[in-house]
Amino acid sequence: MNSETAEHCRAWFTRFVQQHAETDAGDQRNILLKEEHTRNVCGNARRIAAELGLDARAAGLAEVIALFHDVGRFPQFRRYRTFQDSRSVNHAVLGAKVLLEGHVLQDLPQRERSLVIRAVTLHNVFTLPPVLDSEVLLQAKVVRDADKLDIWRVFIELTGTDAADWPSAAGLGLPDGPEHSPGVLASLERREMVRLTSLRTLNDFKLLQLAWIYDLNFAPSLRMALERDVIGRLSRTVPRTRSVERAIGNHRQYVHERLNSTSA
Ligand SMILES: [Fe+2]
Repeated sequence: MNSETAEHCRAWFTRFVQQHAETDAGDQRNILLKEEHTRNVCGNARRIAAELGLDARAAGLAEVIALFHDVGRFPQFRRYRTFQDSRSVNHAVLGAKVLLEGHVLQDLPQRERSLVIRAVTLHNVFTLPPVLDSEVLLQAKVVRDADKLDIWRVFIELTGTDAADWPSAAGLGLPDGPEHSPGVLASLERREMVRLTSLRTLNDFKLLQLAWIYDLNFAPSLRMALERDVIGRLSRTVPRTRSVERAIGNHRQYVHERLNSTSA
């Protein structure tokens, strides 16, 4: 991965986004949302790679994977008008297909090409497969952390506005009442991730996002979440019952425990 190849990838992405521009301003907000998200995920990946001390090749790959992780979002919106995979298609698999069929990675050596495709495909799986090539594992972990850090930003910004003003494809179709599901909170208390299929309310989704803290792979990512006050800002959007308070207290403790342990 040299700087010329990385530049070629960035130019391809810019053209690809332009090709998916929407004429209606409301529709175009969905495209801009994903374009901005991608730029932020690239920035997050750069910082994680730098703080982990990755070499230039690995850091370059991390950035290209971040750039391409959500290319599937653009044709997904064009075809289905939603970002909900459950109502359309797995956008990570679609993205890998776009990259392969468009011969976008042809300048990369074969090993790097398959590394990018594997990491893009794995960026949204619930849990990573137990056995993975070490380079694929590292790159998948970087992009998953970088992605979560920016999905938190997007979601926190959206929850500060009226749902009727959200970009049309960003909605989750979940009722925004005062309730949360006990099973979802129980997962959070067990320090486990929450499955999308168990969500019943918007508060459940907020708890799911809090539980992502338990899936962060690297200390730099945890530090970035702390710096951005992800737990504080997300938890302020959830009705604070006693059980929610307990889960959030436990949550903060987990972050500090991990950051204080050498293996974070
Ligand atoms: Fe994604």
